[in-house]
Amino acid sequence: MRLPFASNAICTFLLFATIALLFEIPSISKADNPTLWSCYDSANYTSGSQFETNLNNTFSSLYQNTPLTRFNTTVSGEDPDRVYGLVQCRGDATQDECRNCVNNSTTEIVRRCPL
Ligand SMILES: *[C@@H]1O[C@H](CO)[C@@H](O)[C@H](O)[C@H]1NC(C)=O
Ligand SMILES: *[C@@H]1O[C@H](CO)[C@@H](O)[C@H](O)[C@H]1NC(C)=O
Ligand SMILES: *[C@@H]1O[C@H](CO)[C@@H](O)[C@H](O)[C@H]1NC(C)=O
Ligand SMILES: *[C@@H]1O[C@H](CO)[C@@H](O)[C@H](O)[C@H]1NC(C)=O
Ligand SMILES: *[C@@H]1O[C@H](CO)[C@@H](O)[C@H](O)[C@H]1NC(C)=O
Repeated sequence: MRLPFASNAICTFLLFATIALLFEIPSISKADNPTLWSCYDSANYTSGSQFETNLNNTFSSLYQNTPLTRFNTTVSGEDPDRVYGLVQCRGDATQDECRNCVNNSTTEIVRRCPL
């Protein structure tokens, strides 16, 4: 099963919903700026839905909490609209690099995997 994620040299951002039980994390090359991404297209959400609210809350929580330790996970909302998110920044990334990367990833995930 493929899950929504975005990854580059600095961070890997992974999102999944309750129904997604199995996932694979691709191996990430340390080459300069490889931007990997993948969408999960066997389900959609609606604009303005509870799921989208939970998605946005997941993004802000990870944006706020990840830079300090370069790793964080979060769960937002209740089934069937629950959203899980995980961010791992490289251990040598500065807090600013990590923060920018989380910001970039959330923007890119929503742009590349709309709804
Ligand atoms: C989700 O939306 C995309 C883009 O409109 C569409 O291609 C896809 O078939 C939809 N998937 C489902 C399960 O409705
Ligand atoms: C989620 O955030 C996006 C981007 O900021 C915004 O367009 C959308 O209205 C928000 N959705 C909800 C349900 O708050
Ligand atoms: C995420 O960040 C919060 C706030 O700093 C912290 O309390 C929590 O333990 C962190 N979770 C993980 C999995 O690192
Ligand atoms: C995220 O980056 C965009 C530019 O790509 C910027 O406009 C926006 O203010 C940033 N968001 C936060 C919360 O810093
Ligand atoms: C995110 O980073 C990539 C690679 O550096 C860049 O091409 C893209 O424009 C950035 N996106 C945003 C929303 O800042």
